[in-house]
Amino acid sequence: MIRSVLLGAGSYLPSHVLSNDELARRVDTSNEWIVERTGIRERHIAADGEKTSDLAIQAARLALEIAGRTAEDVDLIVVATTTPDLTFPATAARVQAALGVHQGAAFDLQAVCSGFIFALSTADNALVRGQAKTALVIGAETFSRIMDWEDRGTCVLFGDGAGAVVLEAQQEAERGVISTFLRTDGRMHDLLFTDGGPSQTQSTGKVRMVGNAVFRQAVEHISGAMLEACARAQVPLDAVDWFVPHQANQRILDGVARKLAIDPAKVVSTVALHGNTSAASVPLALDVAIRDGRVKKGDLVLMEALGGGLTWGAALVRM
Ligand code: ACO
Repeated sequence: MIRSVLLGAGSYLPSHVLSNDELARRVDTSNEWIVERTGIRERHIAADGEKTSDLAIQAARLALEIAGRTAEDVDLIVVATTTPDLTFPATAARVQAALGVHQGAAFDLQAVCSGFIFALSTADNALVRGQAKTALVIGAETFSRIMDWEDRGTCVLFGDGAGAVVLEAQQEAERGVISTFLRTDGRMHDLLFTDGGPSQTQSTGKVRMVGNAVFRQAVEHISGAMLEACARAQVPLDAVDWFVPHQANQRILDGVARKLAIDPAKVVSTVALHGNTSAASVPLALDVAIRDGRVKKGDLVLMEALGGGLTWGAALVRM
């Protein structure tokens, strides 16, 4: 049996940090409100001219270095992003060229905040079917570019960043992607969307969200996805060593942990320092937890996310 083994991770955050206090000087909000309702204290914002591909390339280089692989090894690149450099070509094409990868396929995948889970599952399928041997799976976003900086209900939530992992197809591996679960329910399209796009308005649009409705959906569907990924692998939830959730809101992380009776100490949270970096948040959090020594080789890690679409999903990985 072939498994997609996760050989290494890397991440990148733009250097500029935007604090809640600075935001409170722009819109009618306060550090206290943001911390109490979301757990977010600060977020990173890409510099003028710094593109999603720039963030992705930095994260990918680190992931390749940690994995001990080079551009010659990579034959698949999937970039999960909602904020591509351009409408086309794919940001992944630019990333591929910059990394010096001259073989295989590269494409973008759009599932908003669930994008990394969808990309991981897509790459896993390609590796297991023998379509590729070594994949870079990247989540990269410059969400700051599509914020309405006058809408206090959304602009306090998001940040920019990128995270990447290297997956390699290995025979008879005990490590690797064990199960994934993906779901979309387009009936909830209008809970979280941009009010523009190439076909509809010939513009990019800004983020619009019915925050409290998304919140209610999030706890229910994220919990369900986690249980489903475990059931597919016939692994009990309490066998999971680390939970690496999409970093939307600390209250969502706490709500899911309470609902599933998970020890909060096993939940990796970076939301305070990163905000919601959409498709980048799961690989960013994973990289943080690997680097600080929490997530180790052999650990069972459950990643999960929910985002616009609505989309949601989970992935169980033996590190
Ligand atoms: N500062 C101060 N007041 C605010 C702010 C702000 N930044 N934003 C909203 N408010 C006000 C509202 O105007 C409202 O005032 P009103 O009662 O006078 O009308 C009041 O706070 C309550 O608004 P709610 O939207 O009901 O507040 P809620 O407790 O639901 O918190 C929040 C809002 C933080 C957006 C929450 O709903 C949330 O986190 N939802 C999840 C959405 C999310 O994370 N989306 C990200 C993408 S999807 C995902 O990643 C899972």
